Amino acid sequence: MPTNFAPLKNDTFLRALMRQPTDYTPLWLMRQAGRYLPEYCATRKRAGSFLGLAKNPDYATEVTIQPLDRYALDAAILFSDILTVPDAMGLGLYFAEGEGPKFEHPLRDEKAVMALQEPPPGSLQYVFDAVTQIRTTLNGRVPLIGFSGSPWTLACYMVEGGGSDDFRLVKSMMYNRPDLMHHILKTNASAVASYLNAQIEAGAQAVMIFDTWGGTLADGLYQRFSLAYMREVVSRLKREHQGAHIPAIVFTKGGGLWLEEIADIGADAVGLDWTVNLGEARRRVGDRVALQGNLDPMTLFAGAEQIRSEATRVLESFGKPQAGNGHVFNLGHGISQFTPPEAVSVLVDTVHDVGRRLRSE
Ligand code: CP3
Repeated sequence: MPTNFAPLKNDTFLRALMRQPTDYTPLWLMRQAGRYLPEYCATRKRAGSFLGLAKNPDYATEVTIQPLDRYALDAAILFSDILTVPDAMGLGLYFAEGEGPKFEHPLRDEKAVMALQEPPPGSLQYVFDAVTQIRTTLNGRVPLIGFSGSPWTLACYMVEGGGSDDFRLVKSMMYNRPDLMHHILKTNASAVASYLNAQIEAGAQAVMIFDTWGGTLADGLYQRFSLAYMREVVSRLKREHQGAHIPAIVFTKGGGLWLEEIADIGADAVGLDWTVNLGEARRRVGDRVALQGNLDPMTLFAGAEQIRSEATRVLESFGKPQAGNGHVFNLGHGISQFTPPEAVSVLVDTVHDVGRRLRSE
């Protein structure tokens, strides 16, 4: 297991997650490595496909670093995908051109559900190798974030067999056969906890759980079918590793209604989409967790002036960051592939400038 990585030169992101004072508001962007960057498209072309990129640690390292070479971002995120876990469980991930991710063997009946097993040892080694290689290549520049999908969000893709507009199949199973649904979620929670712990051992300095589809659940069901399993994952994380605390971030898109409950599952930080006011969120959760978010990604299609004013509005809505509460600036969801790269420069400069100004006022 790797032990001697270079010391961090910029720990602003980790400090904010741990609610320690920072000189400015750190930022990174969900999906910061991706198709809006021409250099990403060039590497993807050489790799042949998205999976060719993600499964090769050299390529994964290259594209993880690309956004950092362009912008003064305060964290790197492992280049991979949440669907690597169900792929390793034998569901057969593939990408149909222009259609997004799909599974060859979705979980549609009792037999398939009961046959589900956690990923066999070694099947996700390419991810852990990428983590170690990225952390080594970063050489202490900024911290590296590892990630996973939430048990519920993974189950959505595993039952639907791909993306969905209405989640009819997965919700039918949840209502008709909750026993099968819980079997999937229990298996996923165990797989996700092991997967994140292996990323931590390989060099990840923070971890994030993406619950992209938790917000599609009814109140009451969200708590039972998504939140309970994220709590299970968080409780099993090895968050003290080689003398460092490894912060955990949980993000339920559309989870604004349940903020207090999300803040209560034991994570260090809660990610918020753009429908929530940060100041209000801060009042609701107090100093239990740091907050991450929450600019509408579509803001990046506006002009420089609007980007500056919207980013400032987000920073000001959080209020003056003081010891005991932390803000990590981010988008409220992943950056669009159509985003003009120049818009991101405007955003990054604004967040750093305004964040410093807020602290000096
Ligand atoms: O943030 C980063 O830069 C790290 C990489 C990352 C990817 N996917 C790369 C990717 C992360 C953190 C993810 C998470 C992910 N993947 C989520 C949760 C976050 C979210 O966005 O809600 C989900 C739901 C997925 C599943 C997934 N993977 C979808 C729906 C798609 C298709 C999206 C699209 O825009 O076509 C993917 C593919 C994918 N994952 C791409 C990237 C850069 C695009 C692939 C390509 O190059 O063709």
